[in-house]
Amino acid sequence: MKFFIDTANIDEIRSANALGVLAGVTTNPSLVAKEAGVSFHDRLSEITEEVSGSVSAEVISEDAEGMISEGKELAAIAPNITVKVPMTLEGLKAVKAFHDLNIKTNVTLIFNANQALLAARAGASYVSPFLGRLDDIGHNGMDLIATIAEIFDRHDIKTEIIAASIRHPLHVIDAALNGAHIATIPYNVLSQLIKHPLTDQGIEKFLADWNKQN
Ligand code: E4P
Repeated sequence: MKFFIDTANIDEIRSANALGVLAGVTTNPSLVAKEAGVSFHDRLSEITEEVSGSVSAEVISEDAEGMISEGKELAAIAPNITVKVPMTLEGLKAVKAFHDLNIKTNVTLIFNANQALLAARAGASYVSPFLGRLDDIGHNGMDLIATIAEIFDRHDIKTEIIAASIRHPLHVIDAALNGAHIATIPYNVLSQLIKHPLTDQGIEKFLADWNKQN
């Protein structure tokens, strides 16, 4: 499983990229809205210069024609832009059109396996099941990841599964175990993955012992 970061904040992206594990970035309109004082297109240029992997940029139109025109503009920013499209009937039409134009897509707001299968068959490069938001309403988000992974595997579907709406480190481990190809992780969760109190205690003890002898 690969790591993407789920943010539009360039400082977070740079810090994550410095770890050497970052394979891509996902943004969404809510994350972009948090970034005051910079245009969406300028921020996407900055991100695509920093990260060579897939950078998802979401369209906000609700009709296929609008999505296609917005997506073409976004895709023109850099070759590693992936157009993020909502899982709707109009979104599926747009995904098919982007597929024919050789533009990569990430179908977002996936909450059941039929949506994921439809998106894949329409030509999506990625599907993003939102596991945290399912957990929030008392469903099991991880079961959805496992189901989609099994269906894609059984039918030899190449669309990659991005475990999205990740809330804590256990989500990351379980997403990997359940067959997600990618987890897109907020910066605070990525930072938590690195830490373990026994690692910190171990370093402290090694240094203390070393200093006794030197
Ligand atoms: C993924 O592409 C989405 O941007 C994101 O994971 C949504 O997460 P949230 O449910 O924490 O807003």
